[in-house]
Amino acid sequence: MGPDDIPDIVISRLPVYLRALTRMQAASQEITSSKELGDRLGISSAQIRKDLSHFGEFGKQGTGYQIKFLVDQLRRILKVEREWDVALVGAGAIGHALAHYDGFYDRGFRIMLIFDSDPAKIGTHINGFEICDVARLGELIQRHSITLAMVAVPADAAQAVTDELVKAGVRGILNYAPINLTVAENVHVQYIDPVVHLQRITYYV
Ligand code: NAI
Repeated sequence: MGPDDIPDIVISRLPVYLRALTRMQAASQEITSSKELGDRLGISSAQIRKDLSHFGEFGKQGTGYQIKFLVDQLRRILKVEREWDVALVGAGAIGHALAHYDGFYDRGFRIMLIFDSDPAKIGTHINGFEICDVARLGELIQRHSITLAMVAVPADAAQAVTDELVKAGVRGILNYAPINLTVAENVHVQYIDPVVHLQRITYYV
């Protein structure tokens, strides 16, 4: 089965499983069950078994899952057993917060290049990395063969920045700007908009 055959909704849950399993591993736990994992995550154990069955047989009936094995398999499936270099565009409030977040590096993502268009920021540093002129985005991204980027520019600038990123070879974008991006089919975009999440909560509150 190729990666395109697995429903996106299943793929979207795998990082959540990986995160929970990694926490169990850090607490020296060696074995878990779909029931325990489900209880922790608020997902049914049947759903978890079904999701994992897309990738082969992980657990033995009645003996649970070996956490290390499952973690290794999930990391391989998600392709996070390697390190990923990431470009960050927009060195404002959000860009600063992202560049200072240790959680990326801890889980295999390294912010390698930071870009901004503000002459007052270009040449200054965040967390040891120089802020580069966005005019050099294509050149530098190609030189470092970077395929992942985070966009943290104002909404009005996000599409143009995205077009440049894609032209330079970026295939995965995490967009913090509150706007939908238009990209070719082979480019994957994920959105982080806390207002959209709040609006999903207000419906229930
Ligand atoms: P900011 O104004 O502090 O920073 C934006 C940065 O982008 C500035 O440094 C600016 O010089 C730079 N910039 C503008 N046009 C550019 C271009 N064409 N190329 C490169 N750099 C460019 O804004 P802030 O607060 O950091 O927000 C950034 C984006 O994230 C906005 O779209 C905002 O709406 C959104 N946002 C997202 C949140 C989230 O949690 N997803 C929360 C708050 C804001």
